[in-house]
Amino acid sequence: MTAHRKKVAVLISGRGSNMEALIVAARAVDYPAEITTVISSQPDAPGLTFARNAGIATVALDHKTFQAREAFEAALQTALDAAGVELIALAGFMRLMTPDFVGRWRDRMINIHPSLLPSFKGLHTHEQALSAGVRVAGCTVHFVRAELDSGPIIAQAAVAVQSGDTAATLADRVLAAEHKLYPAALRLVAAGQIHVDGEKTIGYEDVNQTTALFSPPLQG
Ligand code: GRF
Repeated sequence: MTAHRKKVAVLISGRGSNMEALIVAARAVDYPAEITTVISSQPDAPGLTFARNAGIATVALDHKTFQAREAFEAALQTALDAAGVELIALAGFMRLMTPDFVGRWRDRMINIHPSLLPSFKGLHTHEQALSAGVRVAGCTVHFVRAELDSGPIIAQAAVAVQSGDTAATLADRVLAAEHKLYPAALRLVAAGQIHVDGEKTIGYEDVNQTTALFSPPLQG
């Protein structure tokens, strides 16, 4: 008997490259989640085209046509209920959510953010990292809480900052890491291998690596 695959909605607002990585990963027969629905807050989000071509049901909820956040979220909840969604993966979804909606999906809604949280919340994370002068940047997948870019951390990937980096070159390398990290993190959550305990997660396997990432590298 095939194990139950968690029904996942991916919420986007634009390009959708993380959504694409999740859709591709979920094609594997042993992946514990299926992407049943892609919902966009922008009707012309480029990511919708990939999702439609992949045969996935799409819903465009133009946030500008809703007078209040609550009305937008009511429509969102209706779409999620209609598709029997069990988990939400935010992937470049540019709408702030009310505490009520976030509470309803507590520990069942995850997000990817292009920094090593809790550093560099909000927008322009790569500019923030470069202006802070950090030598290691990265990305984080976390459970969503009402406060912006916070919540129990599920997985992170570190990326060394190069001396000639611009926000764009750093963003490219972090994005490549995001595309590997997000499917791996969703796998853990959908398979029930990682749980929230307090405001941290437990259940992850330790990395099979004892050396640190040194940036700049050690000499000699
Ligand atoms: C990604 O960098 C993601 O971490 C952030 O928004 C960006 C979305 O890119 N939340 P894409 O739409 O997945 O290509």
